[in-house]
Amino acid sequence: MTFQETLKSKKSEAEKSIFAYLPKEEGQQKIMLRAMNYSVENGGKRLRPILMKESYLFLGGDEAAMERILEPFMAALEMIHSYSLVHDDLPAMDNDRYRRGKLTTHAKFGEDMGILAGDALLNYAYETAIVAAERAEITELPRVMKAMKVLANKAGVYGMVGGQTVDVKLTGKPLTMNQLRFIYELKTGCLLQASLMLGAILAGASEEDIQKMEEIAGDVGMAFQIRDDVLDEISTTKKLGKPIHSDLENGKTTYVTKKGLKKSDEEVARLTDHAVMLLDSFGKEQGFLRELLLSLVQRDM
Ligand code: IPE
Ligand code: IPE
Ligand code: MG
Ligand code: MG
Ligand code: MG
Repeated sequence: MTFQETLKSKKSEAEKSIFAYLPKEEGQQKIMLRAMNYSVENGGKRLRPILMKESYLFLGGDEAAMERILEPFMAALEMIHSYSLVHDDLPAMDNDRYRRGKLTTHAKFGEDMGILAGDALLNYAYETAIVAAERAEITELPRVMKAMKVLANKAGVYGMVGGQTVDVKLTGKPLTMNQLRFIYELKTGCLLQASLMLGAILAGASEEDIQKMEEIAGDVGMAFQIRDDVLDEISTTKKLGKPIHSDLENGKTTYVTKKGLKKSDEEVARLTDHAVMLLDSFGKEQGFLRELLLSLVQRDM
């Protein structure tokens, strides 16, 4: 199988795991449940759950325990990621009408439902993750609790929400490189760190290995956001599924506006090389995870 074929099959496996945990669209709040499911089901690369599972397998996680303790976290993280996008697209934030080739949640269901669908997805993510604790064997419980803590931390005020806060507050202003790095590490890096770290934690990896995964994902997150900025500049709305020049319209300072396209590409390559070097230092047989990280340098969506 080629890399692209393998990625496609891993994506559909991840979607099966995620969709199994989505709520039923029934009851008086049905409109909300529809908005939630719409936000998660409407495509997306599923990069974070795929990375979580690959990290788990890379570090020797038990395949028999995957359905019980890993899959609830894969679904939970994708719900948190989806909520972050629903809120990111709101008129008060980036004000974007398209995402993954479809209307954004607020554009389709109204701004009130966009706000509530985000809230609901965030809460439902934890309702979902805690299923892993119910299903865990007693010896697995400490890992599951640690995974809960890291997930909550990386999504919150010291993580993604913290980064988004500084991002929107400094929109339209010039940024120092320090401020830019802070924003990227938190708004994008933290959920990618959660991906690789949770895979490692649930696999029962050592503290040292968990920290190495955190560092790898830190590089990947920075590279991923710089590439996102490049694509906002050079891609097409059709290809990306979200409006190009959103950053320009919002007056955002990005890595691209600060350093230009060429330096941005170089930095993406440099960060990715560093991440792969760290991955190689595990001294394990290299497989899909390595190829996946390398593929992100050239990603076009
Ligand atoms: C978009 O993330 C937001 C950023 C962190 C740049 P993705 O590019 O992973 O979005 P989907 O899930 O594939 O749509
Ligand atoms: C990342 O930044 C968004 C989140 C962390 C939710 P962007 O605002 O650049 O992401 P896109 O381009 O809208 O996907
Ligand atoms: Mg944004
Ligand atoms: Mg945005
Ligand atoms: Mg962007």
